[in-house]
Amino acid sequence: MATTTESVSNGGGPVHEDKGETLRPDDLSEMLAAGTKDVHEKAENTQFVKDFLRGRIRRELFKLGAVALYYTYTAMEEEIEINKDHPHFAPLYFPSELHRHEALARDLEYFYGPEWKREISCSPATQRYVDRIHQVGQEYPALLVAHAYTRYMGDLSGGQVLKKVAQRALKLPPTGEGVEFYQFDAIDSAKAFKQLYRSRMNELELDAETKSSLVDEAVKAFQFNMEVFEELEEIGKTFQEEVSEDGMPIHGDTGGDISK
Ligand code: HEM
Repeated sequence: MATTTESVSNGGGPVHEDKGETLRPDDLSEMLAAGTKDVHEKAENTQFVKDFLRGRIRRELFKLGAVALYYTYTAMEEEIEINKDHPHFAPLYFPSELHRHEALARDLEYFYGPEWKREISCSPATQRYVDRIHQVGQEYPALLVAHAYTRYMGDLSGGQVLKKVAQRALKLPPTGEGVEFYQFDAIDSAKAFKQLYRSRMNELELDAETKSSLVDEAVKAFQFNMEVFEELEEIGKTFQEEVSEDGMPIHGDTGGDISK
């Protein structure tokens, strides 16, 4: 445990003690958590996310969500591979624990069949997110951590709940097909892993300006996610209209539809 003297000599006292670790306001993990608090709350309150949490998600929309995630993680993990030895990313390189690209490919194969790659395309909001991830990876690699933080820490925080909601709403098999994205097989304790990830972020040698740019980039990453949710929400409305034109009920508590 860090001593009080250390905290004082560092210029600021500890914010709080977490599992014996003393955290300070200029720790990157603290700056990211504080700097994205408001935008996190906004993301939680987007209609798409609220509907999903309530189990109001149709299979077609869930599939498009998985497609958006597939393009996003493919881009992010491509840039991570390229930058895995960069000193501003290397300590956060955990491919076997975190990487989601292959799990998403399996989920898409489950939903779309063996020709899944030919059946999917990248939506405009997802493309904007993907373009930014590539730009960051190529031009500002120090900011890549912001993208990894926003997605992986979020996935580790909510994955199990979202997995269960999706399985129930879409009547997916209990064996996990279709929701492999939410399952981190190589991580025993999400809580312990998040602690490790935070301490690795705090060990990065970054000046104050770069840390502050990282917080800005994480806010942007949340905004890109929200734009994807908003786009999905709009698409979801058109599905409902189509269903209602066919004379099928558009309201109901189950959320999911039964067609594959
Ligand atoms: C952390 C809930 C949506 C990104 C957390 C934590 C909770 C939570 C309870 C804290 C977990 C912990 O400290 O162990 C939710 C709920 C959501 C939601 C209820 C939707 C209704 C999102 C979205 C994103 C996101 C859409 C980004 C795309 C994050 C990140 C963290 C986090 C990056 C880590 C914060 C930190 O400790 O620095 N979330 N979340 N969350 N969430 Fe979410």
